This record gives sequence, structure tokens and C-alpha cells, in this order.
Amino acid sequence: MADELSLSLALDPEQGVVRLVLNGHTVGRLGGHGGDPKIRLDPQFQDQFAAVEPYAAALFANMGETLSAALFEIGSFRVNQAGRPQGMAIPSQRRTQLHLGCGPDEREGWLNIDYRPSSPLGFDPAKNFLNYDLRAGLPLPDASADLIFSSHFFEHLRHEHATRLMRDCRRVLRSGGKARFQMPDYEKAMRAYVDRDPAIFADGQAQGLLNHMPAYSRHWGDLISRAVYEFYEHKYIWDPENLGAALIAAGFSAVREDNAVEGLDNLSDMRKDASFYVEAIA
Ligand SMILES: C[S@@+](CC[C@H](N)C(=O)[O-])C[C@H]1O[C@@H](n2cnc3c(N)ncnc32)[C@H](O)[C@@H]1O
Repeated sequence: MADELSLSLALDPEQGVVRLVLNGHTVGRLGGHGGDPKIRLDPQFQDQFAAVEPYAAALFANMGETLSAALFEIGSFRVNQAGRPQGMAIPSQRRTQLHLGCGPDEREGWLNIDYRPSSPLGFDPAKNFLNYDLRAGLPLPDASADLIFSSHFFEHLRHEHATRLMRDCRRVLRSGGKARFQMPDYEKAMRAYVDRDPAIFADGQAQGLLNHMPAYSRHWGDLISRAVYEFYEHKYIWDPENLGAALIAAGFSAVREDNAVEGLDNLSDMRKDASFYVEAIA
């Protein structure tokens, strides 16, 4: 019986979903992120699906990261198709300060930009928020912004995407405008790891950075893995030296390392002592 059933996955860029197709019928969809896609089954196909469920569970368990990446990619097509024209149409006074990879830190007085594959498309004027995959650059006019800020964002991009976005930041800034980068301080983290610094380890534990791990995996190797890989989301390690060189190559005229600035940088407990700060002048 089971060998008469055919189960396949179909990427649907219009809907931004991966469809689950059983014997030619869409029986459900995959959603979710972070290597853990969830099956949302159409109830009317529940019985038919039962026959292939163990197979599907094993298949998806092994393909979790691939499927999450597929969801991320097909979401990008749809989100940016809507976000590009809407970004270009945002009134100029609402996009002089840009906050890239804002996450939940949506700020007043800034154009907050983040990529959220399963959230509403385009520009939300109430939050001054634009849903956009920044690997494609900024959907904004040349020389139109004074300040760009990002916190713990660029390390989520591959090197080629990060450097392309740096060039685009330069394009969108007016001459003399600034791009400010707050990023994980891996030099500090790795020194602490080599020294087995007990104070920094205790601080990481107090912040709950290992709470998701089993009890036997709460050691220095686990803490440095969390810092470097961040649930397998980090793609590249930057420090003031390689970031500065990349920013100059991207067309910025000067770069300097800075201290944290109250009211501008993200100084939450998790970020404050775990960051370096670099400012580049367009
Ligand atoms: C670690 S969070 C940082 C959030 C916030 N800035 C902070 O400091 O807490 C990284 C953010 O980058 C966003 N991000 C990752 N890839 C992105 C992309 N290609 N385009 C836009 N945002 C992206 C994620 O959605 C997430 O909100």
C-alpha cells in the first residue's frame, strides 16, 4: 500500500510556503524556522497522510535545515517584490535614520528594517517598519540618509552579502553621513574561553545562554559555541580590523572604533559587554 503513495515537496514563491504534496494533492504546508519546520496538515487529508507520517517525520527530521533555508529563500522573493517599490515610496523624512536588522528593537524616529518571511509584506507606517531581505541591498534612493545603525546583524549574513550591503549603505548615505556597527566582540569571548574566565562564564549562565542545552552540555565549549554559532545562524566573524578594511573597500572615507553610546547602541544586558562598536564616515 505505502509504495503506491507519492509524497513530495513543492516550493511556492507566491505564497512563501513549502507545500506538502501527497499523490498530487496539496495536503499541508511547512512552516517554522531554525531547522525545525512544522507540518500544518489540511484536516481532510489527515487519514491519507497517516500512512506516510512516519516516513515524513524521518524525512523532515533530516531535512530540517534545508527546508528552513528553502522557506527563507522563497520568502525573500515575495517579501522583496513587495518591499522594493514600497521602500522607494517611503516619505523622505521617515528614512533619514535607518535601523538594519532591528529584530524586536523597533525604534521611534528610525526606519526599522528586518526580514520576516512569514509577517505582513511591505512597509508598516505605524511602526515605520519595512519587511525586507537586506541581502538584496537597501530599497532606498542614493544619498538620502544621514545615519545607519545595526546591532548584532551583519554577522548573520554571508561575507559577500554583508560586503554588498556595506557598499549599498555607502550609496544610500549622504556624504558625511555615518554608518554605525555594533557587533559581537569575539576577541573578548575567545580570550575568555582560552582563559576559562569564571566571571564571564557565570555571567553567561546568569543570562540563561545555556538554558536550552542539556545539563551535561553547560561548559565553556558550549558557551563559546552559543556565542560563535548562535543557533547556527551566524555566518561570519567580524572584528574592528576586518570590518574597517571592508568598509573602506566599500567606499567609506574613514572608520574608527568607538565606545558604547547611551541612547544609540543596544545596551541590553545581553549586548552591552559583549559588543564592539565601529563608526564609518561616508
Ligand atoms: C540577533 S538579531 C539582532 C536584533 C537586534 N538588532 C538586537 O541587537 O538585538 C539579528 C536580526 O537580523 C535579522 N536578519 C537576519 N538576516 C536578515 C536579512 N537577510 N535581512 C534582514 N534582516 C535579517 C533577523 O531577522 C534578526 O532580527
